[in-house]
Amino acid sequence: MSTSAPAARPAAVTALQMKKSYQDKTVLAGVDLTIAEGEVLALLGPNGAGKTTIVQILSTLIPADSGTATVLGHDLRREAAAIRAGIGVTGQFSAVDDLLTGRENLLLVGRLLHLPAAERTARATALLDQFGLTEAAGQLPARYSGGMRRRLDIAMTLMGRPRLIFLDEPTTGLDPRSRHLMWQLIRGLVAGGVTILLTTQYLEEADQLADCIAVLDRGRIVAEGTPDELKRRIPGAQNLDDVFFALTGRPAQPEPDEQQEAAR
Ligand SMILES: Nc1ncnc2c1ncn2[C@@H]1O[C@H](COP(=O)(O)OP(=O)(O)OP(=O)(O)O)[C@@H](O)[C@H]1O
Ligand SMILES: [Mg+2]
Repeated sequence: MSTSAPAARPAAVTALQMKKSYQDKTVLAGVDLTIAEGEVLALLGPNGAGKTTIVQILSTLIPADSGTATVLGHDLRREAAAIRAGIGVTGQFSAVDDLLTGRENLLLVGRLLHLPAAERTARATALLDQFGLTEAAGQLPARYSGGMRRRLDIAMTLMGRPRLIFLDEPTTGLDPRSRHLMWQLIRGLVAGGVTILLTTQYLEEADQLADCIAVLDRGRIVAEGTPDELKRRIPGAQNLDDVFFALTGRPAQPEPDEQQEAAR
């Protein structure tokens, strides 16, 4: 909870001055980030701000150009394998295999993790139940709704019982009901002691779920704090939309013409 003393908790993630560029485009211009164990950090930012890049770097998928980071007590550069053993990543785009049923997708992940057969089966059955997918377990994901597919994606991430989970935009594109269901599932993970780095474009989502919010804009963290701290920092702000606008001079959700611009 945001009222507890954060200093008492060890850090699950500490990143210092992370930089990343593609050709002459600077994506991360020196990002500092700390996530306490058992906490939810919401990384908030508009399209192209660098959210996925941060997730990819901290989950060992791509290297940073410079900077240092410790993840679950391991050095990001030198101990990538130890980090991978303790984390789960649900990417922005689905990792679900459409040629396998829901249950088969989970069992495949269990196989890749070298779980013993009995544990694979038990874990898949428990996760299908927990994520409301038992009835659909034997169907191909092509028949799933967007929310069901996203839940299967996250269930796959949990097969290995990660202590730290990266959720890259877990609710983008979901209807309000599916989004609220996802929030409940995420709260359940937190209650089980898991640390979460969540990226989102929805300020309400960060407000609902996060102990700490880091606002990313054009490759830099422009504000960090509890939802209440951020709201207090901007006098007159009624909600996090107001906070984002005050910090960046732009709305958090890109305007339709800006989206078209970005697609060009
Ligand atoms: N492999 C790559 N090559 C070149 N540019 C890249 C590459 N990956 C990302 N970028 C650029 O880096 C910037 C940040 O991308 P990133 O995917 O991290 O943003 P994001 O905050 O996750 O955006 P979104 O909300 O759209 O998912 C974008 O301008 C993107 O075009
Ligand atoms: Mg992204």
